[in-house]
Amino acid sequence: MTETIQTQTSPATTSAHAFAKSPDPVGEDRAYLDFVLGLKQHWARTLYPKLCEQYDAAVSGPGTPTPSTIDEVRPVVEQLPAYPYFGWLERNAQKMMWRRLEAMIQPQERVLAEGQNDEYLFHRRFVETAIPRDRVYSAILDLGCGFGKSTRPFVDAFPVAEVVGIDLSAPNLLLAHQQAERLQKRITFSQRPAEDTRYPDRSFDLVTGTMLIHELPMPVVRTVVQEAARLLRPGGLVAFLDFQRTGDLFRDVAMDDHGARNNEPYMPHLFRIDLSRLLERSGFERIEILPFDERGAGLVESGEWPARSEWHVPWSVIRATRTDTGKEG
Ligand SMILES: C[S@@+](CC[C@H](N)C(=O)[O-])C[C@H]1O[C@@H](n2cnc3c(N)ncnc32)[C@H](O)[C@@H]1O
Repeated sequence: MTETIQTQTSPATTSAHAFAKSPDPVGEDRAYLDFVLGLKQHWARTLYPKLCEQYDAAVSGPGTPTPSTIDEVRPVVEQLPAYPYFGWLERNAQKMMWRRLEAMIQPQERVLAEGQNDEYLFHRRFVETAIPRDRVYSAILDLGCGFGKSTRPFVDAFPVAEVVGIDLSAPNLLLAHQQAERLQKRITFSQRPAEDTRYPDRSFDLVTGTMLIHELPMPVVRTVVQEAARLLRPGGLVAFLDFQRTGDLFRDVAMDDHGARNNEPYMPHLFRIDLSRLLERSGFERIEILPFDERGAGLVESGEWPARSEWHVPWSVIRATRTDTGKEG
């Protein structure tokens, strides 16, 4: 970390924007990115269902024992005829997209990408459907806030709360601050590690993190959960939006491999942590790990993973309440 940044945005504040919005792709860039998008859609909507079909056929032959663990499913998946192409396309379509975006952005000075992001529906749905309204949140902390798209919906949902976003990345925080100013959202952004925030004990009612914990090595996930317990007042809520196993072994193998092919080295680690146990040991109760259907209703209270024919990342809400005593269990 080379510099420490602390920014505060209030509706009354205006300032010149430090960064210009990145240009929308045009011409050859647009054509190239549309082509990559088409490849990704082919991968998710055509190739993945084909792979599922091949898997079902491979495990349902007469006399074939049904694999019952991930370790049994993996060799079956690896033998499927469509699997090498599926893996190759996943890896390479992603690389093609990022290389082109990098090439578009690098020649520009002091430009950060904003993107379209579906008007942040994903993040709004999380706040609207996964944060219980049965308690008061007067101070909210977003761990690993990025450029603030996970933080801003909390201001809209809880306008009188003090909302803070922290991240390791200085450029992310500067963009977060600039956008919060433009949108007149009252948020404090600060450069701090999620595992050692240096905020006082019991200073928040809600500690959240979206797409953060799968980025962290296993010991850091533990420290982050313990830090959340330290920061929360008794009865406060911790809520992460991230990935968990679905129980569908075929899909869970595909998800492990997705981590390997997308440079997400810690994603498989997250799948190996017993998060419920970790939360319980860190002083949480009412622990829930529930599917999150970002294209549907958001939080799926029934716990049933929505059936999808196309490839779909298994988003999960992991939430729990700080025990009343505030003591570790
Ligand atoms: C995938 S991004 C998610 C950003 C944001 N929460 C969102 O949903 O758009 C993960 C973020 O976590 C941040 N991060 C990674 N490790 C961190 C740590 N130990 N402490 C704080 N932030 C961290 C990264 O800099 C990055 O901005």
